[in-house]
Amino acid sequence: MIFFPFNSIAYAMKIFLDTADLKDIRRAAEAGLIDGVTTNPTLLARASGGEDAKEIFRQIAEMVDGPVSAEVVGLDADTMLAEGRRLAALHPNIVIKVPLTEDGLKACRQLRSEDIGVNVTLCFSPTQALLAAKAGATFISPFVGRLDDISSDGMQLISQIRQIYDNYGMDTEILVASVRHPQHVVEAALMGADCATIPPKVLWQLMKHPLTDLGIEAFLEDWKSMGQEL
Ligand code: G3P
Repeated sequence: MIFFPFNSIAYAMKIFLDTADLKDIRRAAEAGLIDGVTTNPTLLARASGGEDAKEIFRQIAEMVDGPVSAEVVGLDADTMLAEGRRLAALHPNIVIKVPLTEDGLKACRQLRSEDIGVNVTLCFSPTQALLAAKAGATFISPFVGRLDDISSDGMQLISQIRQIYDNYGMDTEILVASVRHPQHVVEAALMGADCATIPPKVLWQLMKHPLTDLGIEAFLEDWKSMGQEL
């Protein structure tokens, strides 16, 4: 991908695509819209069509210039470690997703000591996020949509984690997950989240505005009346 630095951005919120669908990933990557990809077993089951999961991870990692989260399925630390090491060996872009459990945090600490990136997932509370940062997580994934689903306030969790991490200079990146609509993305950026992982449908929505479409239509109509070519 060619990147032209027209203007300088010190540090912008990263946008990851939350999918294992290769077509959507290719489209977003070719448009230069994404900084990485996150997957989970549900997304893989939806997209795989029987193809080997490791092969899908490898293909995604080839397509994207940034971290690609691949999730372990073992529940004990030793199994998570074995799976994590195997997945990390597939491609340098692979980051290992572990669940926020006691064993997950143990595996996180060990994988980080081996210089393997870790995304601690299924985070629903500020104390979980604090422990993940202390275990050296590269990313913490708070699931905002699933909290909203149970009448809790998902974005309030992001603001709490932001404050806790800032209080102690913790460099674990807040990766807003379970994003359901563009407003989640707006609030994530306003709160200074480091990244948001976004389903393809929401990513396309981020660019759309009815006034943009109406504006183009009117400009083209007026241009046509001039009967010229550029
Ligand atoms: O990648 C994990 C997360 O984004 C899942 O989202 O919509 O299944 O809650 P959702």
